[in-house]
Amino acid sequence: MEPSLSNVVDGRAIAAQIQKELAVRVANLKGSGVTPGLAFVRVGEDPASKVYVGRKEKACAELGIVSETHVLPEATTEADLLALIAKLNAAAHLHGILVQAPLPKQIRESVVFSTVLPTKDVDGFHPVNVGKLMLGDPTGFKPCTPAGVVELLVRSGVKTDGAEVVILGRGNIVGKPMAAMLCQKGNAANSTVTICHSATRDIKAHCLRADIIVAAMGVPEFLKADMVKPGVVVMDVGVNRVSDASSKTGTKLVGDVDYKNILPIAAKITPNPGGVGPMTIAMLLQNTVRAAEMKAN
Ligand code: GUN
Repeated sequence: MEPSLSNVVDGRAIAAQIQKELAVRVANLKGSGVTPGLAFVRVGEDPASKVYVGRKEKACAELGIVSETHVLPEATTEADLLALIAKLNAAAHLHGILVQAPLPKQIRESVVFSTVLPTKDVDGFHPVNVGKLMLGDPTGFKPCTPAGVVELLVRSGVKTDGAEVVILGRGNIVGKPMAAMLCQKGNAANSTVTICHSATRDIKAHCLRADIIVAAMGVPEFLKADMVKPGVVVMDVGVNRVSDASSKTGTKLVGDVDYKNILPIAAKITPNPGGVGPMTIAMLLQNTVRAAEMKAN
């Protein structure tokens, strides 16, 4: 990461700024007798999920959000997981519930996400919150990663109004909600959005006319320098583990973007790590603080 280069979007610094702003709101809540509470649920021993939940727990502790983590075995049935969620839904000290994806095969994610109370759904995955996002209803919770990308764009001075945006990937966690946010009428939106995916005929042609590209398809270093125009803004959501003979572990993490070669031609680009990742956590904290405020008021 080269934080001194002006075209590098420093996600860690922007996330830290948001956390400072949230600290004021947490202090206000505590002043009125409310401590924000968040429950994490993890099923199985997926190493990446362990790391992600660990980072989220640490961020909660730093901000003064009380968190509790429930770890269930890999072989947990869907019914057992739903029973735990019902308990967490009913717990008055909890304002948010996050069930870390991916879940084991025997458990249907859609059923799980629909069981979390919409008012505690700080992931923004419940159909009610997905619907509110589509409708432009601000009372819902927005998914953390695409909300973090919007925040990065706004806070690094990127104009989305009228911009040609290409989103690589159509997943429920990033691609689809990202499109819904950016095509909405209003501030930090108003873009012309194209979603590219595995069946798109000529991804390069779409990317070459994009002012902003959000890469969230999960293909290591997919976006190459010859696929972007000079002055493009690139947001790299990808986290891919690839083999790397030069590293001690034999692997390394790379994004969906060929960062090194796009850096010299981009107007703005997120590093990886230190770009979108910290913003996902900042938006989770923000949703949780908001959930507590909504309950308090
Ligand atoms: N897995 C990958 N991203 C996310 C996320 O934002 N929330 C949850 N719960 N699981 C994820």
